[in-house]
Amino acid sequence: MSNWKRVLLIITGGIAAYKSLELIRDLQRRKIAVRCILTRAGAEFVTPMALAALSGDKVYQDIFSLTDESEMGHIELSRDADLIVVAPATANIIAKMRAGIADDLASTTLLATGKPVVIAPAMNVRMWEHAATQENIGVLKDRGISLIGPNEGDMACNEFGMGRMAEPSKIVEEITTFFSVRAGDTTPRLGARNGVLSGRRAVVTSGPTHEAVDPVRYLANHSSGRQGHAIAAALASLGAETILVAGPTQQPDPAGVTVKNVQSAVEMMAACQAELPADIVICAAAVADWRVANPPQDKIKKERGKNGNKTSAPPVLQLEENPDILASISTLKTERPALVVGFAAETNSVIEHAKSKRISKGCDWIVANDVSPGTGTFGGDHNTVHVIDGDGVEDWPVMSKEKIGFRLAERIAQYLETFS
Ligand code: PMT
Repeated sequence: MSNWKRVLLIITGGIAAYKSLELIRDLQRRKIAVRCILTRAGAEFVTPMALAALSGDKVYQDIFSLTDESEMGHIELSRDADLIVVAPATANIIAKMRAGIADDLASTTLLATGKPVVIAPAMNVRMWEHAATQENIGVLKDRGISLIGPNEGDMACNEFGMGRMAEPSKIVEEITTFFSVRAGDTTPRLGARNGVLSGRRAVVTSGPTHEAVDPVRYLANHSSGRQGHAIAAALASLGAETILVAGPTQQPDPAGVTVKNVQSAVEMMAACQAELPADIVICAAAVADWRVANPPQDKIKKERGKNGNKTSAPPVLQLEENPDILASISTLKTERPALVVGFAAETNSVIEHAKSKRISKGCDWIVANDVSPGTGTFGGDHNTVHVIDGDGVEDWPVMSKEKIGFRLAERIAQYLETFS
């Protein structure tokens, strides 16, 4: 089971909890291991014994259990999973997730996790239609949480309408698709309008560039490529033919994406131009603004005399400007992409500087982020971005870079559906 994918299944208190047994069995058949958290209300509908027997694992119920917390605390439960599924998700857990309430093992795990989360709501039709629930669902979706269902149908309370939990077969299908697309990347795809970008061609830049000082040294920056790679993966998962022009990074190649590896800004520019025309260009790379003019063929030597004393002054590096990839694509006279998106990495007056950058570079949208030391934006899992277009500024909540990629890809799809 070591190479199995791992789902952490949170079962909350609804009549549909009995369906979790079928869900576990069907996931296991597809080589997806399931570990369960059962809430107090959930235990009114399904027994821990039945869940343990089917999952072949301990069932976690209590945040204050010394045994549970020492064996596998809420952080480990989340860390150990590839995906968290809440099924059934009651109106109560949905409200707690929206508000950030952490008063039991399930809600604490959900608050503490950075993993993709999907919920399968199940409740009475009036509870589902209630403005509070609808507002909560809207907020969760904006945070990148995916929904499966609910469905319309007869309910246990003798009413008819929306609120029935999606069938286990549907949940299994979505989870299986998520994992098959995810092989090699971490793009949340559940609930996506799959194929909505098919027929579109996207070019994404990602990572740093390395600018040679001499054959053994280079100038670089702290970009890890996580953000750009996540965007490429998300575009591909929505069906776009995606080319990722990547500077030197440790990131795995995203599934379904053609990757062109480059080192320097000049190479990145040439690789991007070779991939045009395209419908969408996203410049997420941290391209060096300058390179060393005429780097020598041989290593620059630090000269020392016999007694170790310095005999030469430190070298002076003459810099010259690199080509601006974003600006040159944005201002193409012929075959300009329908949508050009830049990023702005700022350390002060983030929005103000990003707004001027959008104008000066000529791109359609700019995604601003703060890269000051201490934000963890460079290299971290999460990012806080502001999407700026001609209409104004959208402040997005802190999200994983994968969720940002996914939400950006959805925004792009909607834009292209409307405007091209
Ligand atoms: O890679 P990660 O560790 O995940 O971090 C993500 C990130 C911080 C690198 C990313 O979110 C980000 O902000 N990327 C843009 C970094 C940057 O170079 O920003 P800038 O403000 O200096 O440049 C503005 C825009 O012009 C960017 O779209 C950049 O790609 C582009 N540019 C800059 C210089 C140049 N010569 N050519 C360009 O295309």
